[in-house]
Amino acid sequence: MKTSIFRYLLLAAALLPAAAQAFSPAPGVEVEPLGVTNTLVRVAPDSTYLLLPIQDANDESRINVLVDGKLDRTIVARLARSKTDYNVPLDLTPYRGHKVVLNIITPQGRNSVREASDDAVWKDLRLSNTFDTANREKFRPVYHHTPAYGWMNDPNGMFYKDGVWHLCYQWNPYGSKWQNMTWGHSTSKDLVNWEHQPATIIPDGLGTIFSGSSVVDTNNTAGYGKNAVVALYTSCDASQVQSMAHSTDNGATFTKYAGNPIITLDTEARDPNMFWHEPTQQWVLVLAHALEHEMLIYTSPNLRDWTLQSSFGKGLGCQSGVWECPDLFELPVDGNGVKKWVLICNINPGGPFGGSAAQYFVGDFDGKTFTPDRDKQGNVPTKWLDFGKDNYASVSFSDAPDNRRTLIGWMNNWQYAAEVPTLQYRSANTLPRDVALFTGDDGEIYLASAPSPEVDRLRGKQVARLGKANVSAKGRVLRLPAANQGICEIVAEIPADTSAPVLLTLANGKGNSAVISVDPKAATLSFDRTKSGVTDFSRDFPAVTTAPLLHRGATVKLRIFVDRSSVELFADGGREVMTNLVFPEEPYSTLTVSSPAKGKVASVAVYEISKP
Ligand code: FRU
Repeated sequence: MKTSIFRYLLLAAALLPAAAQAFSPAPGVEVEPLGVTNTLVRVAPDSTYLLLPIQDANDESRINVLVDGKLDRTIVARLARSKTDYNVPLDLTPYRGHKVVLNIITPQGRNSVREASDDAVWKDLRLSNTFDTANREKFRPVYHHTPAYGWMNDPNGMFYKDGVWHLCYQWNPYGSKWQNMTWGHSTSKDLVNWEHQPATIIPDGLGTIFSGSSVVDTNNTAGYGKNAVVALYTSCDASQVQSMAHSTDNGATFTKYAGNPIITLDTEARDPNMFWHEPTQQWVLVLAHALEHEMLIYTSPNLRDWTLQSSFGKGLGCQSGVWECPDLFELPVDGNGVKKWVLICNINPGGPFGGSAAQYFVGDFDGKTFTPDRDKQGNVPTKWLDFGKDNYASVSFSDAPDNRRTLIGWMNNWQYAAEVPTLQYRSANTLPRDVALFTGDDGEIYLASAPSPEVDRLRGKQVARLGKANVSAKGRVLRLPAANQGICEIVAEIPADTSAPVLLTLANGKGNSAVISVDPKAATLSFDRTKSGVTDFSRDFPAVTTAPLLHRGATVKLRIFVDRSSVELFADGGREVMTNLVFPEEPYSTLTVSSPAKGKVASVAVYEISKP
């Protein structure tokens, strides 16, 4: 009799679902599997960070962070399944002295709780008082801005105040692919040395924090005090609405407006970009009406109450992609008294070489309406800010000193940004560029983007030089600086009367090469990265990009900036610009100056880059 009861109990135990087996992978962390897609993690918040193990190729998990039983925030992260690629830190310092539980919903696809609880994430969870951001990437640029870790896209909310340049950016602090959009923040006194600051605007119940802009409210129009910094950004969840925040500590921390959102539409609209319009004494805001392929223009007396005045763009320019990240500003033409307005409309896709690119229009603005100039045929021409594949979401700093208009772009392209061969971080920004308007040979007004004057200070000692020379197919070889593993600035002058194109080829011992071709006769400049190194992560990456030479002088003057994974070309003071990523298997070590027939060069010089 006894045995049969015992048997019965054993049988019942086998049929009942197994009780969840809580376990502790590390001191202060307890993991309790609840189901095939659900796990609780209890954390003792007396360390600085909980390090979350990430596997880039895995699907996204949702992490609800509960503090004393209340939802504090939700994070989306690619928690590790078969192996941990890297960790990202969850900052626990705000939770000290409270109970912290993570309710984690993992992707489908596990057969049993046992299988789900085998995932690498649970074994690798750790508490730590430090997070190591030392660079582990061979492609991380040496003199371009990058996030300390995690994914970055658009630079946004950029402003200058009291001698400091503030660069905010679209940041994912919890992985190296796009998610959890947050305003990251870096500051610089010279536009080339950047310091990482804590994130400034983080997601809330209205959504994640998309791109926007910041201004210094010199006259206290918003009521936060003279010189408060006011930011407008897009809150993105199921809808895209515009929100406001202000800072009275020079942009270190922002307080969100309690009445957010301040602009709502029932269509996709994002990336508010605002400025003070002196003649009409009001604020002007340009908002990308993304899917309508147009920009909306609003005005406001106080940065909070906005009135729609006009729209621009329907049927104009490139219409094939979404319209994003606008910027509107006035500049003198050819450095004289005449002024024109420039409206930058970033688009994706539809760029001249595929994917994302920045188009712009030149025209007039009366405080309410932007009226574009027409060409001789009566059409509104589409103009491109950059003739490479990798300069997107370019917008300017507000309140820059000395009437400067300084832009920075995201040095990537949505076609392949999530696949570029880095892991600890993804994406860099372009060098800062100061823009000016000039009249091209065709009578049209164009925007020139020259490296900002601060970039000149990066130029170190000259390490190689070729004087006036005739070049042929064999070519003349210059060595790139060994000290900095090929990182350099190259300055070249090609006579306009060269009877054949001149090629400047960056190459390394692995057979990788990136070829710049200057053809004054055809009035073109091009860059071929088809054999530049690692190119197979996307079929959209190998490419030849070509720019028209818009203004021909006696020579074509080039400045070429080579960093670990980018080549930026500025021709004739920035009249033509080309920004392209490259991923050489080892750093380029030589520059060969050649020509398919008989080419002429006036001079080529190679300089080390030395950071001030
Ligand atoms: C442009 C963009 C913006 C948006 C942001 C989101 O690259 O799509 O329109 O605000 O990225 O990260």
